[in-house]
Amino acid sequence: MAKKFYITTPIYYVNARPHIGHAYTTIACDAIARRQRMLGSDTHFLTGTDEHGQKIERSAAEAGITPQELTDRIAGEFRGLWDRMKISYDDFIRTTEPRHKRGVQEMFRRIRDNGYIYKGSYSGQYCVFDELYVDAAEPGSPCPECGRPTETVSEENYFFKLSAFEDKLLKLYTGQPDFIRPETRRNEVMTFVRSGLRDLSISRTTIKWGIPVPDDPRHVIYVWLDALSNYCTAIGFGSPEKQDQQKFDHYWPADVHMIGKEIVRFHCVYWPAFLMAAGLPLPKSIVAHGWLLFEESKMSKSRGNIVRAETVIDVLGNDALRYFLLREVVFGQDGSFSFDALVQRYNSDLANDLGNLASRTLTMITRYFRGGEVPYPSSGGARTAADDAIARTAEDTIASFASLWDDFQFSRALEAAWGLVGAVNKYIVENEPWAVAEKEDEGSRSRLATILYTAAEALRIVTALAHPAIPEATARIWEQFGLGAISDFRLTDLKWGQLQHGTKLGKVEGVFPRADKSTIERMQQMEQQRVAAPVALAAPAATPAPTAPQATPAATAPATPAATPDGRISIEDFAKVEMRVGQVKAAEKVKGADKLLRLEVDIGTEVRQVVAGIAEAYAPESLVGRKVVLVVNLQPRKLRGLESNGMIVAASVGDKGSPVLAGFLEDVPIGARLK
Ligand code: MSP
Repeated sequence: MAKKFYITTPIYYVNARPHIGHAYTTIACDAIARRQRMLGSDTHFLTGTDEHGQKIERSAAEAGITPQELTDRIAGEFRGLWDRMKISYDDFIRTTEPRHKRGVQEMFRRIRDNGYIYKGSYSGQYCVFDELYVDAAEPGSPCPECGRPTETVSEENYFFKLSAFEDKLLKLYTGQPDFIRPETRRNEVMTFVRSGLRDLSISRTTIKWGIPVPDDPRHVIYVWLDALSNYCTAIGFGSPEKQDQQKFDHYWPADVHMIGKEIVRFHCVYWPAFLMAAGLPLPKSIVAHGWLLFEESKMSKSRGNIVRAETVIDVLGNDALRYFLLREVVFGQDGSFSFDALVQRYNSDLANDLGNLASRTLTMITRYFRGGEVPYPSSGGARTAADDAIARTAEDTIASFASLWDDFQFSRALEAAWGLVGAVNKYIVENEPWAVAEKEDEGSRSRLATILYTAAEALRIVTALAHPAIPEATARIWEQFGLGAISDFRLTDLKWGQLQHGTKLGKVEGVFPRADKSTIERMQQMEQQRVAAPVALAAPAATPAPTAPQATPAATAPATPAATPDGRISIEDFAKVEMRVGQVKAAEKVKGADKLLRLEVDIGTEVRQVVAGIAEAYAPESLVGRKVVLVVNLQPRKLRGLESNGMIVAASVGDKGSPVLAGFLEDVPIGARLK
């Protein structure tokens, strides 16, 4: 029977759109899952979205939509992006799905029935951003994770007896050293647990947007118990159906939970404790990677320094992003993203090294051998030590690649594979097959056959090894080899000499066109347009304008009338939004609301009342006479009892998303339409 392999990404919060920080984790899991499938494992790869909690509730309120609308929209964006990136997930779980709710309630029940839940009252500090209870903190003290001020919560709660698991957890970490990887994270966790664990509040009464506690629906279950349980609920935990239960028994425990380093505590302390309390087996390992930095700090929405995966994949393709992240970032450590480094890596490793090796080797076979068939290598006089050296390097690379990859050292594994690429490129230059091809004697023909067989066989091996990291280009090279679908190939069989002579090559085409300076400029422009575009989660009108399709190796999807899964809209959809220039005639603060201003805006045909959340950024008197951009065909809504008839367009800037009103450098008449 095939070995089972179950791998998960964190489920991503839906309070922000996906960026390449999220893509990094997902790509790493995808690459691992693809290699496992090639090894013949019965692989299950889970990803999804984390949709409950106060953070989501507040983001929705700020955007003026319901939590369900917000979660539907952003979950769709995550899923749409993974589909565009051809992420090979087997399942996508949303925590608002009934299968999840049922499973979480079952988890709660089991922990309670085993005596690890009691009722008590909590009065203390809570960080809404991290959804974290902060022990021994004063009112207003900063959250130890993110530094934001904590909020005081005081309520009757259900508590989880985390303190009962101190010894068991320490035993787990020492008895199973691979449970937390890398080692540095394991040490941090052990220090944290050794310093003592306090019981954990696992319900809230002040939040509505969550899963009710079974038999006590005034409480909703703490988001982290809810979220972590996804790893079980997605594979059938808590379902009454027999086949779901079998699925759970088959795949659980997970082999790898892949996470970013900031959520180690939840996964390495709370999660195993919850599972022990519920009487369930523990995951085999939790692997924490570092952060992707951009402009020297962690890429995150709140810092406003994100880069979208779409920008890179539209311009350079999926493989370029995957290769860069896996090769450039030392797994486990923080790594920096920059467009310059991306293009440099792409050109040197993909366009030059692998791309050239593939195109020249395959082209020469087609040109020099009848029918474009792989030639037969000589075992006799035409063979040299250099040929054998390549064969040996290839065998060594297969072994070292496997051990490095299995140890999550993707960067070093790829470095090893590219070591082989470099050796073969050098071998080709030194053995000059083009010069040998000019001679017609039998010895030269045999020598030519040996050189090109050696180069082709090494290329085939690199292609198979690199497939999980760069699936698209390697699939194309495999087809050019005439070997069919690479996904059908079993890596367990990979060894030197499998390439059959007489294999008829397919059509040879370049796989990585070179990028130039304008590639970087194009990506930077796309990101600038996104930052400049007024972004709000509230209305489709505020989504960034679609960027013009580029003539690139990765074709951009044509515009379709409805929103595409990646969230783009057609020009017809955009035209539905009527934005006009208006002039503020009057402005005043809304009583009892720190953030709101009531404005009267003249849009040429009428004067509209608009309530806008800009009071912290603009004094009312500074706005009178100012020209603004107003979305005029939004349905009216009531804020603090005042009807708001339209939405003022503003950029959301900095950590706090402070509004900056859109305006014009030239004079524009009142009522002019924006299109
Ligand atoms: N919802 C929780 C996870 C619950 S899992 C049961 C959460 N969500 S999140 O949207 O904030 O995603 C965090 C994860 O996204 C990180 O742990 C990491 O995997 C990935 N990353 C988000 N930004 C990142 C970087 N800048 N760099 C690297 N990974 C990043 O926490």
